[in-house]
Amino acid sequence: MRQHVNPLSKVFNNIEPVPPLKDIFYDYSKPLHLDIGCGSGSFLINLASNNKNWNYIGFEIREKLVNKSKLRLKDESIDNLFFAFGNAEYLIEDFQWKFPEEIVASVSFNFPDPWFKKKHHKRRIIQPQLICKISQIMSKGGYLSIKSDVEELFEYMDMTISNSKSFINYIYQDCEVSNTYNPMNLKTNREKYVIGKKLKVFEKIYKKI
Ligand SMILES: C[S@@+](CC[C@H](N)C(=O)[O-])C[C@H]1O[C@@H](n2cnc3c(N)ncnc32)[C@H](O)[C@@H]1O
Repeated sequence: MRQHVNPLSKVFNNIEPVPPLKDIFYDYSKPLHLDIGCGSGSFLINLASNNKNWNYIGFEIREKLVNKSKLRLKDESIDNLFFAFGNAEYLIEDFQWKFPEEIVASVSFNFPDPWFKKKHHKRRIIQPQLICKISQIMSKGGYLSIKSDVEELFEYMDMTISNSKSFINYIYQDCEVSNTYNPMNLKTNREKYVIGKKLKVFEKIYKKI
């Protein structure tokens, strides 16, 4: 499977917008989580089938992965998960227009593409303008989480989020974990791979203020 696509390529100017929430979720009043760069979709399918207290949306730029995930959704009759194809920045921009402010309760970035070369840093998914847009669609007290096995990328993401002044560092209290978007601490495909290789996972949680 091809690992990296250039999100700045014109090919990705178009997105598949998220429809009204009442059309995609059985109960759209549940707290909403966005997983940005959701890859194969397995993590979200696992989460959504095991935690019916939340609704989930996965954003993914590789259309084939989104189409496969959608087929699995139909087969498994999951009514609290939706996958949207496109560059997450444009998807979130569209989201901002269409949905009430602060509708999103939590957001995750799990193992984003690292884009190691300096000239490619602009292709990294976490950018100041994206964090600003995310802070506008998130409810106060909501959680943003990042994970990576690449220390340099992790530090860059941490710096970008901390500079936004909309988030503070946070550590879940034990009593809060059952109410988070991932109460069973399920792992993404990349995280399972990293753990299997005994590599370090860098992670951090932020609270929207
Ligand atoms: C390394 S994979 C991690 C996948 C998954 N989160 C995991 O932990 O297994 C990064 C994913 O982010 C997607 N991605 C990269 N840039 C993106 C963008 N601008 N918008 C949406 N998805 C993006 C890639 O296509 C890829 O599937």
